[in-house]
Amino acid sequence: MILILDLGSKFSRFLGRRIRESKVYCEIVPYNYPMEKIKGKNPEGIIISGEMPIDIGAINGSIFELGVPVLSIGYGADLLVQTFRGSSIKPNTFNYKFETINADKESLLFNGLYESLSLWLDKEYVFDNIPEGFETIGYIDGKTVAIENRDKKIYAVMFHPEIETSNEGKYIIDNFLFKVCNAAPNWNMEEFIENTIEEIRKEIGDRKALCALSGGVDSSVAAVLVHNAIGDNLICVFVDHGLLRKNEKEQVEKVFRDQFHMNLITVDAKDRFLKKLKGVTDPEKKRKIIGEEFIRVFEEEQKKLDDIGYLVQGTIYPDVIESGLSGDVAVKSHHNVGGLPDDYDFELVEPLRQLFKDEVRKVGRLLGISEEIVERQPFPGPGLGVRVLGEVTEEKLNIVREADYIFRDEIKKAKWDKKIWQYFAVLPDIKTVGIKDGERTYTYTIALRAINSVDGMTAQWVRLPLELLEKISNRITEEIPQVNRVVYDITNKPPATIEWE
Ligand code: XMP
Repeated sequence: MILILDLGSKFSRFLGRRIRESKVYCEIVPYNYPMEKIKGKNPEGIIISGEMPIDIGAINGSIFELGVPVLSIGYGADLLVQTFRGSSIKPNTFNYKFETINADKESLLFNGLYESLSLWLDKEYVFDNIPEGFETIGYIDGKTVAIENRDKKIYAVMFHPEIETSNEGKYIIDNFLFKVCNAAPNWNMEEFIENTIEEIRKEIGDRKALCALSGGVDSSVAAVLVHNAIGDNLICVFVDHGLLRKNEKEQVEKVFRDQFHMNLITVDAKDRFLKKLKGVTDPEKKRKIIGEEFIRVFEEEQKKLDDIGYLVQGTIYPDVIESGLSGDVAVKSHHNVGGLPDDYDFELVEPLRQLFKDEVRKVGRLLGISEEIVERQPFPGPGLGVRVLGEVTEEKLNIVREADYIFRDEIKKAKWDKKIWQYFAVLPDIKTVGIKDGERTYTYTIALRAINSVDGMTAQWVRLPLELLEKISNRITEEIPQVNRVVYDITNKPPATIEWE
C-alpha cells in the first residue's frame, strides 16, 4: 500500500484516485500522522502531497529514515528541501499551467518517457539550493523543478502529476508506484467484493442488521453488498418524507424489492414532515427539522423490530477523509439521510469506507445494480425541502417536483444527462407577473441549475444549448399552471453553493 501524507486541499484526493486507478491500494492520512502508525501501515511508498496556505514548518525527518521511497509534490517538495537544508523560491502570486519540462530519463521517475514532458506547474516555483545527496532530474529554463536522492529513493517535484488532465503525470505516478516502490497492482473491485462479503458474514454472523436506504448510490451499494452477505437478516427502511423526486419511491421498490428480493420496509411519513415544516422558512432550521424527524421515524421502525445488532451505513472514503482531515468550516449542515445520532446501541457496518465514488459505482455495477441507480446524480438528504425556498407546502413541492421531472426528462432526451454532474429545479419563493391566453397571471418562477464538478467542492455552471433551455422553459410553463417564468442559474461555486439553500 501507498500512504499519502496530506498537507491539505483536494490534491491528495486526486492523487488517491489516480493511484487506485492503477490498481494499487492507498490511504490518505494527515501530514502529522504519528510515526508509529505510519510504520504500522507498512507502506511500500509514501507521498507527501497537498497545498496549505499556512507554513507548517519542515516535515518530520524520520519519514526519510524508514527506508521507504518518498515522493513529495508541490508544497510537499518545498517542505522536503527545507528538511534537508536546501531551499526553493516561492513566487508572490502563483500562475499554474502546463509547461514543457526537460526530464532526465536515467531517473526511474521518468523512465520510458520522453525527454520533454508537458506538466502542470508554476515555472517560478523552483528549487534554489539543492540539498546534499540530491541531484536535478527535471528542469525548465535552466531552473530545477525535480530532484532525487537515488540511493534513498527520495523524490521531490514541483509539478503536479496528479491533476486529472495531466496524461504524462499519470505515467510518472505509475513509475513511482511500480518502478520505484515495486508496488503490487492487486487492488480490484471483484476481490474487494469477495473479501468484504466474507468479512461481513464473519462479523455479523446470524444477527440482524438495519439499513436506512435512501436510493442514493452509496446506501444502495452498501445495502446490496450486505444483503449478499447476510440475506434476509438485513432489513432496509426507506422513509418517504414527501420531499422526494417524482417516481423515486416506486423506483426504490422496483429495484430492491422486485429485483434483489430484499427485506424492504417503506414508511409513508409525508404528513408528519409537512406538519413539522409548517411555517418554517429558515434553511438551517428546515434541514435540522428534516434530519431530526427522519431519525424519529427510523427509530420508531427500529423499535418494531427486535434483535438488531448492526446498522449499515453508506459512508465512503471522501466522507472519512473530510471528517478526519480538514478543519473546514461547514457552510451548510449536511445531514445525510441515513446519518444517525451517536446514542445508538448498534455496531456500525460501513462496507464502503475505503472506496472512492467511482469505485463504489464499479462495485454497484458488478453487483448488478442498474445504471439508473449507479449513475444517480447527488441528491441532498433533505431533498426537495431545500429546493422549495422559504416555507415548504404540498403545493410548492408538487410544482418543483414536476418542473424537476420535466427538466430531467428533456436533458435525458437531448443526451446531456451523461455530460452533467448535477441538474435540478428550484422554486424560489417569488411570484411575478405574466400573461397567458391574453390574461394577466401572477404565479411562481422556477429556477434551473445545471453544474459540473469533480467532488462538489467547486462547480461550474453548464453551458446548455439555448434551444434546449427554451424547450424546457416552454414545457414547464405550459404543463405547470402555477409557473409563468423560468430562469437559468449562471453562477459557479464559489461564490454560490450548488443548492440554493
Ligand atoms: P452545496 O449546496 O453545499 O452542495 O454546494 C454540495 C453537494 O452536496 C449536496 N448536498 C447534500 N448532500 N445532504 C447530502 O447528502 C445534504 O444535506 C446536502 N446538501 C447539499 C448537493 O446536492 C451537492 O451535490
